[in-house]
Amino acid sequence: MLEKFSKWKASFSTNEPIDSKSVTEIPKHVAIIMDGNGRWAKQKGLPRIAGHREGMKVINKIVRQANNLGVEILTLYAFSTENWKRPKTEVDYLMKLPERFLGIELPKLIEQNVKVRLMGSLENLPEHTLLAVQKAVHETRNNTGLVLNFALNYGSRFEILEAMKAIAQQVQSGQLKEQDINEELLNKYLMTSDLRDPDLLIRTSGEIRLSNFMLWQLAYSEFWFTDVLWPDFNEEHFADAIAVYQKRARRYGGI
Ligand code: FPP
Repeated sequence: MLEKFSKWKASFSTNEPIDSKSVTEIPKHVAIIMDGNGRWAKQKGLPRIAGHREGMKVINKIVRQANNLGVEILTLYAFSTENWKRPKTEVDYLMKLPERFLGIELPKLIEQNVKVRLMGSLENLPEHTLLAVQKAVHETRNNTGLVLNFALNYGSRFEILEAMKAIAQQVQSGQLKEQDINEELLNKYLMTSDLRDPDLLIRTSGEIRLSNFMLWQLAYSEFWFTDVLWPDFNEEHFADAIAVYQKRARRYGGI
């Protein structure tokens, strides 16, 4: 009892942060724009797809660390609605990655209690890509650890427009009234309806923009940018991002 009390007292007499404080400040939802695969490959004189292959390898390291730290949701921007503009060979390669990744990693994800989730338009996705992800979603559906949310064929403007169309139809048919439209309602029509908003957004490769990623959901998130290219990103960089997040004071428009 006496020992417990002196430890408690000691925590006030030093500048050391109390352990439990840092634990509670782990961001619950981290979203990542994994950028710089092409430049990484170019720097090494390799084809762009080599950058994507290396980028894929980083994912399991970050998933493991996020899960261990107690992050609840990790959203990864794997393919945007704009990425179809890339050369066909690159698109075809990117579409093979989920299958390749999950083929190797799914048993480990299951072991880690990770729950795989998909966010994006299912239209235009090759069947082999969709089947691989759907299998992972199905096989991890009862898991209770980290939610690994893949943004695949995802675009935020598309998502918001689809939500608006669905709401407009409901109003037209009389199932909703104009007064019913509020933030909470719109949230229900987004592809993230069952997820809290990201607390922290990470973008690699030195680009400082959102590139049509979660425009609504990132309204109050903290942003952390790094020059590190995604294939070079590691657990230490992830920890740096979280440490910076922990020092920020989130005011949500208040003072
Ligand atoms: C951006 O880099 C990256 C992408 C468009 C693809 C990201 C995909 C992965 C990291 C692997 C996905 C794996 C799974 C399992 C879904 P870029 O090509 O735009 O790089 P650059 O800006 O340097 O050209």
